[in-house]
Amino acid sequence: MRILFVCLGNICRSPILEAVLRERAARAGLVCTVASVGTGNWHVGAPADARAVAACARRGYQLEAHRARQLAPGDYTDHDWLLAADAANLVELGRRRPAGASARLSLALAYADILHPRDVADPYYGDDADFDRVVVLAERVADAVVRRHRHDAALSERMA
Ligand code: 4NP
Repeated sequence: MRILFVCLGNICRSPILEAVLRERAARAGLVCTVASVGTGNWHVGAPADARAVAACARRGYQLEAHRARQLAPGDYTDHDWLLAADAANLVELGRRRPAGASARLSLALAYADILHPRDVADPYYGDDADFDRVVVLAERVADAVVRRHRHDAALSERMA
């Protein structure tokens, strides 16, 4: 299972979603690759926002090594799911989808069966509490992904 989280700048929300899922999947013994990108190019090569790094550290997740990358056509075949932080990111993913793309597109929260809120709100112009809220949402997403893949693995075992 290869999951790519997508937000606007790839310095706040998608790196947090990536770091939290990587840690929780490893803890659960789930084999999956996790990455993140931004639809925009303003921060390419930059580390995650210092407030995102701090919010992750407060809850035991590592974000220091992250460097921002922009969405590329190959991402639509290199991953199974492209999971958007918000509705605008999802529209952009649909708009840039190349012919022959194999990855499926979804809102990250909907993929995790979270319908309220629908979007991971952008904390860029917010405060530390907004960043903490993103980490808590990312934990809910990670736990749902782990549950979903345990369920899928159990089903395919039964059908083998
Ligand atoms: P992100 O947050 O999409 O969660 O990484 C943002 C980061 C930077 C900007 C906007 C959102 N920006 O406008 O530079």
